[in-house]
Amino acid sequence: MTDHGIGGYPRAAVIGAGRMGHGIALEAARGGFQVAIYDTQPRRAEAAIAEAEADADDLVAAGLIQAADIPTIIGRLTPAKDLESAAADTEVVFEAVAEHLEVKRGVFARLDGAAPARSLLLSNTSSLAISDIAAACERPERVALAHWILPPHLIPAVEVAPGPQTSPATIEAVRALLERLGKWPVVLEREMPGYLINRLQFALLREAMDLVGQGVASAEEIDRAVRGSIARRMPVMGLFGQADLAGLDVYRQIFRYLAADLSRSTGPPQALDDAVRAGNTGAAVGQGFYSWTEERRDEALRRRNAELIRLLRTDTGER
Ligand SMILES: NC(=O)c1ccc[n+]([C@@H]2O[C@H](COP(=O)([O-])OP(=O)(O)OC[C@H]3O[C@@H](n4cnc5c(N)ncnc54)[C@H](O)[C@@H]3O)[C@@H](O)[C@H]2O)c1
Repeated sequence: MTDHGIGGYPRAAVIGAGRMGHGIALEAARGGFQVAIYDTQPRRAEAAIAEAEADADDLVAAGLIQAADIPTIIGRLTPAKDLESAAADTEVVFEAVAEHLEVKRGVFARLDGAAPARSLLLSNTSSLAISDIAAACERPERVALAHWILPPHLIPAVEVAPGPQTSPATIEAVRALLERLGKWPVVLEREMPGYLINRLQFALLREAMDLVGQGVASAEEIDRAVRGSIARRMPVMGLFGQADLAGLDVYRQIFRYLAADLSRSTGPPQALDDAVRAGNTGAAVGQGFYSWTEERRDEALRRRNAELIRLLRTDTGER
């Protein structure tokens, strides 16, 4: 990686400074990049820098940085007046704008003219095909998925996937870049609807919501089961490690009698449909599968982040 940026730092850009963008910008700055942030909403980039500064305290608590490092790291974040100046002279551009194909294509078409040829153009899309996004520019070989998970500064895994035209050199450069940022790149061989993490997450949610819809157990009871059992093993064992420990012959037996009974619904689960139709869309409106107050939501987020920080602190370095 070459040093082109201000004061010798390599330059990165973050396009779209919402829930994801500010955390991605913080991680790039922690990794030594001078990061230009661009958002179409006026003053959103400035707000994102303030949000990144608040999140930096979590990195101190996680033992990843010293408190004295915060001004230097946050000093590497600058708001950009337009996409072109943000992307100029960058090694990498992280796109984190709204999840609409046309919006993302518009961004990538402009990046084509604005970012240098060497720049990696990375989309944070949760669900769109990277090939559809890359088709908007003339260098699809430099475009790849880099899908960060909320909150990006506390979740180590970043999912990486090529489109059909992405070059192997691009994927290797993305892997090396993310490792340099201290993240865990998870590299897929090809694009796939939902990629990997959402496929796994939604497979489990489909079954859980189906059980609620069938009246087998309440959402609260299912969450108690998850938090008190399978989630306890996952941080250490993952899925396949746990299957090996349990014995694959045992798991095959269980699949034989269970697989046909698991939900195979091809649309949203009934319980989810019912909740959304009733206007119960979650914590933001005070009611989802649970009832929420603002205090309860803040306390849940605080406890979640404290646990994510604890996991980072006790990280053994095993990937
Ligand atoms: N929120 C999550 O949990 C999550 C997790 C992983 C991936 N993602 C993906 O990350 C992306 C961003 O999600 P988010 O939750 O941060 O959204 P968000 O709505 O919080 O932020 C998006 C930002 O992009 C800005 N924007 C829209 N069009 C733009 C443009 N043309 N140029 C520059 N800025 C523009 C908006 O003003 C907004 O500030 C989406 O693709 C989403 O699917 C989200």
